[in-house]
Amino acid sequence: MRAERPNEMMKLGAFFHPTGNHVAAWLHPEAQIDAGTNYRHYAQLAQTAERGKFDLMFLADAVAVREGKLAALSRWPQYMVFFDPVMLLSAVAPVTKHLGLVATATTSYNEPYNVAREFASLDHISGGRAGWNVVTSANLAEARNFGREAHYEHDERYERAIEFSEIVFGLWDSWEDDAFIRDRATGRYFDPAKLHVLNHKGPHFSVRGPLNMARPPQGRPVIFQAGSSEVGRELAARIAEGVFTPQHTLPAAQQFCRDLKGRMAKYGRQPDELKVMPGLNPVVGRTTKEAYEKHGYLQSLIHPDVGLELLSNALGGFDLSEYDIDGPLPDIPEYLGLNSHTAFRQVTGWARDEKLTIRQLYERFAGARGQRTVIGSPAEIAEHMAEWFLGRGVDGFLVQPPYLPGGLDDFVDLVVPELQQRGLFRSEYEGTTLRGNLGLKRPPSRYASGS
Ligand SMILES: Cc1cc2nc3c(=O)[nH]c(=O)nc-3n(C[C@H](O)[C@H](O)[C@H](O)COP(=O)(O)O)c2cc1C
Repeated sequence: MRAERPNEMMKLGAFFHPTGNHVAAWLHPEAQIDAGTNYRHYAQLAQTAERGKFDLMFLADAVAVREGKLAALSRWPQYMVFFDPVMLLSAVAPVTKHLGLVATATTSYNEPYNVAREFASLDHISGGRAGWNVVTSANLAEARNFGREAHYEHDERYERAIEFSEIVFGLWDSWEDDAFIRDRATGRYFDPAKLHVLNHKGPHFSVRGPLNMARPPQGRPVIFQAGSSEVGRELAARIAEGVFTPQHTLPAAQQFCRDLKGRMAKYGRQPDELKVMPGLNPVVGRTTKEAYEKHGYLQSLIHPDVGLELLSNALGGFDLSEYDIDGPLPDIPEYLGLNSHTAFRQVTGWARDEKLTIRQLYERFAGARGQRTVIGSPAEIAEHMAEWFLGRGVDGFLVQPPYLPGGLDDFVDLVVPELQQRGLFRSEYEGTTLRGNLGLKRPPSRYASGS
């Protein structure tokens, strides 16, 4: 089987939701209860991930407190208060050496100049380990913090994202790599011929430039993307070098991978310039039985108010409070899915195909927050990951421990060695930059001679 991808290793990212991925993680006695505002917690997680030779740590973001019924929100603290991710990663940079530092920033409620500057700064501070997860936001609460009463429509968000990211890439090329000569003898600090003014004027943004930060060490921080809709895939094929996506079966993951990589040629890109890393929510036990007990315990902590709220969010705000929790999902109007395509289809698909009750639906969705859960012994989890990787359904995984820090310790101490023994994952870092470890080329400046 190993002959199928003989010279390749899988890539691993660690997704750190503050207390963990499981919606009830904070209730677990071993979870860091004040995680959202505890810097030491993240520093420790980052060091553990680096001990496990992870390619990167990833932080999600929203520029709002979640909205919803307070009865549910007050039982579900995830992302109610949490650090600005770029600031947090800047503080993690000096306590790590190799780990990639990937933060989310939305193209709907930011200005390209600010984003270009922040991520270029993070790349310099970390010595070339920054990554930007380009999202368009799926959240009306964010719109309300930025002078709008309504969120941009789905496809308009993606149009803005394309223009936004092109501007950011242009700003990162403001200074050529060798623009700063810093020559005391001639008294010349930079070469004026190597400074470029973007002068962008487009439908959504007008940005003159240049950026007040030197070209990032990686040329461009690594670009990630997490939208799986038609326009989301098109954006990924155009700009992404890593893609996070919820995939639940190997055939669906294979199809997604083929589809996405098949779209890249029209943007002049090769398939291996993009790493597909679906979410994986591992519940690791020393034995299968112990793993199922751990999972059952976490599921038992989900309060119905929280489960219904999460399901309602996935269903475009449809209020389920009047329905029998142990009855079927009512018909949900299609238009409610317009702003959350992927989650909407997933939940309505499970209800239709597997006839799950409302409680079963929220337990499945809430437990892993839409990502695939794999429960088992270290060897079982490693086997599952091997099958998906060797079967070309994935290039790697975005590991989302159910609670933190314990769930990460389990993965690093128990599953990583299994992957290493199978020759599927590194024992030492290949390089010092995120690009180097992911096997991605450093893009030349658009202005550099010869490029
Ligand atoms: C692993 C993962 C992480 C994500 N992180 C964020 C995030 O931090 N902020 C955000 O607004 N959206 C986030 N999203 C949502 C996506 O950016 C996107 O809005 C969502 O997948 C729906 O996109 P689609 O309509 O193209 O399918 C994430 C999605 C995935 C799968």
